[in-house]
Amino acid sequence: MSHTFLMVKPDGVARGLTGEVISRVERKGYSISRLKKMTISDELAREHYGEHVDKPFFGELVSFITSGPVVAMVVEGEDVVSTIRRMVGVTDPKEAAPGTIRGDYAVEIGSNIVHASDSDESAAREIKLFFR
Ligand code: RTP
Ligand code: MG
Repeated sequence: MSHTFLMVKPDGVARGLTGEVISRVERKGYSISRLKKMTISDELAREHYGEHVDKPFFGELVSFITSGPVVAMVVEGEDVVSTIRRMVGVTDPKEAAPGTIRGDYAVEIGSNIVHASDSDESAAREIKLFFR
């Protein structure tokens, strides 16, 4: 049994897609062990996306993720980190396959509905950051 951190970003919450995301996770057969709606502080955003601090889009990324409430969750199950990443789809929604969350619901790379941990190490770090 492994755990991952999954978050509906401000665009997903604003568009009423929280239930859709949760529904896909549950119908897949995974369970949600923690869940909360919150607004991310500037400090938390910078820490969460610390790996991107030198990227040209870092400023936009931080201002977007702090722009409205998000729904943060911990999802558990077998091989959950890689499977949830596949269900989310690739970063650019225009390239994301139909049937994935980003492929079905988004167009712009900067507003791509959800975040999901990219490794077991990221999952552990992010769960600690959001659910401490
Ligand atoms: P996330 O961390 O949000 O789950 O997304 P990801 O792993 O698929 O992509 P990552 O490389 O970690 O990038 C984090 C977020 O930054 C935005 N981004 N913008 N303008 C750009 O070229 C660009 N590249 C990335 C995206 O919103 C991405 O989700
Ligand atoms: Mg990432």
